[in-house]
Amino acid sequence: MDIRLLIKEEVLGQEAYPVETATFRIKLDAQENPLAMPGPLRDEFATLLASVPLNRYPEAGSIAMVSRFAAAFGVAANQVMIGNGSDELIQILCTALARPGAEMIIPVPTFAMYRIAALNAGLKIQAVPLDGAFDLDLAAMQGRIAGQQPALIFLAYPNNPTGNCFSADRIEAILEASPGIVVVDEAYFHFSGKTFLSLVGRYDNLVILRTLSKVGMAAMRIGFLIGQPALLHELNKVRSPYNVNALSQAAAGFYLDHEPAFLEQATEIRRWRGELVRAMEGLPGIRLWPTEANFVFFSCDFDTDRVYRKLMERGILIKNLSVPGGKPGFMRVTVGTSEENRELVEAFREILK
Ligand SMILES: Cc1ncc(COP(=O)(O)O)c(C=O)c1O
Repeated sequence: MDIRLLIKEEVLGQEAYPVETATFRIKLDAQENPLAMPGPLRDEFATLLASVPLNRYPEAGSIAMVSRFAAAFGVAANQVMIGNGSDELIQILCTALARPGAEMIIPVPTFAMYRIAALNAGLKIQAVPLDGAFDLDLAAMQGRIAGQQPALIFLAYPNNPTGNCFSADRIEAILEASPGIVVVDEAYFHFSGKTFLSLVGRYDNLVILRTLSKVGMAAMRIGFLIGQPALLHELNKVRSPYNVNALSQAAAGFYLDHEPAFLEQATEIRRWRGELVRAMEGLPGIRLWPTEANFVFFSCDFDTDRVYRKLMERGILIKNLSVPGGKPGFMRVTVGTSEENRELVEAFREILK
């Protein structure tokens, strides 16, 4: 039997999302918080996890956590959905909105999962290149919105991999012009401090995504979607009932109980980001782009494959974003601890001399 004959064309045409699975001494590829949970908190967390009844299904719809986070976001409980990471919420949105012939617009480059989820759901994808400063090309976006009447638009704010926040007035113009849902994905909110959350009441097509992955709980896979009750009513039919496991629900509550400790780490990471940027500015062949996230994006006038390999030989993993033959090349590095960043910059200095 040729299994390929059974599989959807959109799936056959893809590669699975590439994740580096080897272990590295210094891992700066995935925008994780480089710090472990502080020791005393870890003991408390372990006690909490040990109390979770593993023989029972988790609470369906994470109702208790939904109401706690809704209060924290300043919205009603029927405006919040919790997902197995924001990745799952992106999938749920694509699945629910993929009516026959429906279109999705994304600016490019952006977070890869929008495209993957849309392809798998059967949405048609319209990719609109960012402008020379990696901001939204408003005229091109408006033209495509008018022409295609997209059901869905994803805007990462700050954007991954470029690290910048798009101009807020351009996002508002897109919210005004769009007949469909506009998702403002604030995965890096803890490092930008910028949000469209207060506009959820003003635009009924606005959806906000948040996550705990970047602020210290990547392993627990906890993401949030905030939007209109009528939309969530429909999205809840797509979400599987037990989508967030009981340990993750407990972890989400633990986060809220101890949020200042996590935010303190985010503040530290922002300080290290400043140090890393200043140190990298002195490196030859690198042009840094402004960042408001926990990573730094840069153009490279050298062979990024070679540099990527040389860094790996030193036990350092970053992200190589270059396309074969593309000039300039691009790389992205997650902000690590002060020590890790220093070692990275030193390695760059040696490799690039
Ligand atoms: C813009 C953006 N959204 C969402 C995610 C995924 O977040 P989660 O871990 O909550 O699935 C990422 C992860 O890199 C991201 O860059």
